[in-house]
Amino acid sequence: MRAVVLVGGFGTRLRPLTNTTPKPMLPVGHRPMIARLVDRLARGGVTEVVLALGFRPEPFVDAFPDGRCGDVQLTYAVEPEPLDTGGAIKFAADHAGIAETFIVANGDVVTDLDVGELVAAHRRWSAEATLHLIGVDDPSAFGVVAIEDRRIVDFVEKPEPGQEPSNLINAGTYVFEPSVLDLIPSGERVSIERSTFPLLAARGSMYGVPTDDYWIDAGRPELYRAANLDLLRGVRRAESCQPVADGAIVAASARIVDSIIGDGATVGADAHVVDSVVLPGASIGPHATVESSLVMGSVGEGAELRRAIIGADGRVAEGASVVDASVPPPAPG
Ligand code: GDD
Ligand code: MG
Repeated sequence: MRAVVLVGGFGTRLRPLTNTTPKPMLPVGHRPMIARLVDRLARGGVTEVVLALGFRPEPFVDAFPDGRCGDVQLTYAVEPEPLDTGGAIKFAADHAGIAETFIVANGDVVTDLDVGELVAAHRRWSAEATLHLIGVDDPSAFGVVAIEDRRIVDFVEKPEPGQEPSNLINAGTYVFEPSVLDLIPSGERVSIERSTFPLLAARGSMYGVPTDDYWIDAGRPELYRAANLDLLRGVRRAESCQPVADGAIVAASARIVDSIIGDGATVGADAHVVDSVVLPGASIGPHATVESSLVMGSVGEGAELRRAIIGADGRVAEGASVVDASVPPPAPG
């Protein structure tokens, strides 16, 4: 079975980390989130993944130079300009010549969903489209469905708070019949969520599978951090990771608590790292404190970080303090 994985967004909400690394290439538990996603699709029967890229394809091509991720063959569909989710699916499916039942996944979803079960439900109901759904407390930041007996009768993308038809959200993994592609015009910017799903809901051919699997959209800093640290906490069905990568250099007197230290990162003497992700290549100076933060750049001796995000070219000076802020700060506008 083939899958289209959407990896062409700008990762705006994860800046400055995404200034240098596209969101799906950011590590979750020492592996690019896209590699974990491809592995999971493979466990559900996917043998070929079409990566729908709208922006900066090079890091993906560099990461998978032989065109494979594990046993899965990778194909790249590079849009001439970002076509939004629906336009990207159409472009990628045309590019790969997809004319059979296929899977679509948002590239920033970290979940334990069994994709094989989603496909089985889709076939059982002879659905045209089947969406994975998750119940959340605050659905307004997502696509929200109204469901009647497993049939999705309404789909509203990012409704105003209070206007949500239910607390069941689109969890970003779909099974589509090729006929869904006929609803998307070629070469145009089309949102699958805003344009296509409402049409399918009106047609009565779209179904939803709510599950209580582990699920996070890692597109926001707090959730990206959680997606990493949850791998240490044993809350995932079949995935876990070690806290400190083999290639990290951590001083014996440093204290690492509930944190991940990536490959090639250094942590100096007496530094204290708590609830944080220190990404590959980052450096934490001696006596620095890093709490609830994401660090790609360098943190000087004795500096203090709390709920901070330090991009690859971010430098925190010796003794400086960064609280609830990013380095470099977000570009204006
Ligand atoms: N190729 C390509 N081209 N990919 C794109 C484009 C584009 O123009 N725009 C966005 N994407 C990719 C992103 O990289 C991401 O993997 C996926 O499409 C979804 O975009 P996000 O920007 O992450 O959307 P969201 O998180 O606000 O909302 C989506 O995901 C939610 C669940 O996580 C929607 O699908 C919601 O309905 C859903 O609830
Ligand atoms: Mg997202």
